[in-house]
Amino acid sequence: MMWSASVEPAWSIDGFREAARAALRAEVAPEHLDWQAGGQGGLLAAPEVQSASAQRGAPRVPTAFVELAETVLCHRDPARHALLYRLLWRIVHGERHLLSVPTDGDVRQAMQWAREVRRDSHKMKAFVRFREVPGEQDRFIAWFEPAHHILHRVAPFFARRFAGMRWAILTPDASALWDGEVLRFGSGGMPSDAPAFDDGEDLWRTYYAHIFNPARLNPRMMRQEMPTRYWKHLPEAQLLPALIQGAGARVRDMAEREHALPKRRIPVASMPPPASELSGDRSLAALRRAAQGCRACPLWEPATQTVFGEGPEDARVLVLGEQPGDMEDLSGRPFVGPAGKLLDRALGELGIDRAQLYLTNAVKHFRFERRGKLRLHRNPELLHVQSCRAWLAAEIERVQPRVIVCLGATAALAVFGADFRLMERRGVLEHLHDGTLALATVHPAWILRQPDRLQDEAYRHWLDDLRNVFTRP
Ligand code: URA
Repeated sequence: MMWSASVEPAWSIDGFREAARAALRAEVAPEHLDWQAGGQGGLLAAPEVQSASAQRGAPRVPTAFVELAETVLCHRDPARHALLYRLLWRIVHGERHLLSVPTDGDVRQAMQWAREVRRDSHKMKAFVRFREVPGEQDRFIAWFEPAHHILHRVAPFFARRFAGMRWAILTPDASALWDGEVLRFGSGGMPSDAPAFDDGEDLWRTYYAHIFNPARLNPRMMRQEMPTRYWKHLPEAQLLPALIQGAGARVRDMAEREHALPKRRIPVASMPPPASELSGDRSLAALRRAAQGCRACPLWEPATQTVFGEGPEDARVLVLGEQPGDMEDLSGRPFVGPAGKLLDRALGELGIDRAQLYLTNAVKHFRFERRGKLRLHRNPELLHVQSCRAWLAAEIERVQPRVIVCLGATAALAVFGADFRLMERRGVLEHLHDGTLALATVHPAWILRQPDRLQDEAYRHWLDDLRNVFTRP
């Protein structure tokens, strides 16, 4: 006899579990079960499997199967429910270790669908772009067309990443809404439900054009990383045809200029600050918003969020750190962890109110290495500093500080260039090319790493360096 099973919505693990459990208890073999996911059952459909009488208790299902099923259910292929039930049937009927047989046809198919879903989820994290709703401050909408039913799977990532914003992600099948506290899901939308364009995108586009490196261009790899089907969601994609076309000429030009320049020195700080090219709203708030979507280097992905600078737009002193640490990454604010506490202590001793300073970092995403539950700090590389350089330039241009205080070698590199030797020039106020004063000293985290017997001395020396800045008229 034939039975039918329905799962609504078609990607629901609870719906699948309920139908599959009823079918297993009634000993309905896979070939006698017609899966009508998404309410496709017609008038002549077989009776629902939930009404079949139980022949046995509910079998125990391995966790690995549940995890696989959660992922595979997001795939669009209409045969996925039948495949999963077939696997489940075989697992509870003696093939307990079936999932560890990758050569099995059913297992191979399920694994491939799971891979496709994971890849689509990854792309969604990378390519969703929020646009501000005109006339409503801090409300954002993104339109996205995933290949599979992954919205409910990926939306919690955005809730963590953009916890402080109110946003909606609309897809053709479903929508997710975050009001700052609760994540809700609703029905699908239309592209026209999302705003067409905002200032943040303009900023991001200009930024992208600036960091686009024609010498690294490999169009095939690029299309693999950023498949053209996603381009319509991406403001920067509109630039790509022209950037790709012009790449050859730019590489030749770069090669000629390189020839003319003395070798060895790569003066990072002399990269033209693109801030002056950014159009639209260049307030710190707009920059901060635009930087939230920054994907200029790979650090954005494992990090929780972009940690942009904070402080008054007219601060006289800009304090530049290396990169956010663990606590900064989680809170979204610079210098709130142990190094920040030491900085607060020093400022307190110098009689300086932290709220008057603009605090920021050379690199705006936390770079770390996972060790069990720990996230261990890793030094940023030149590439990360360069990728972030335009945000720093935009902050400096906006704040126009009288003095920039660089904490540590990475901050000094971002401001003075790659050949700066911190221990030779620390504590000395120098003029930058635009007349701004800058001073580099050690990083508070470096002081915290000193052995106990040297720490006090290191701290006093650091305080003397800082006094040089803060006691100036
Ligand atoms: N270290 C930094 O350089 N910056 C921070 O924001 C925190 C720790």
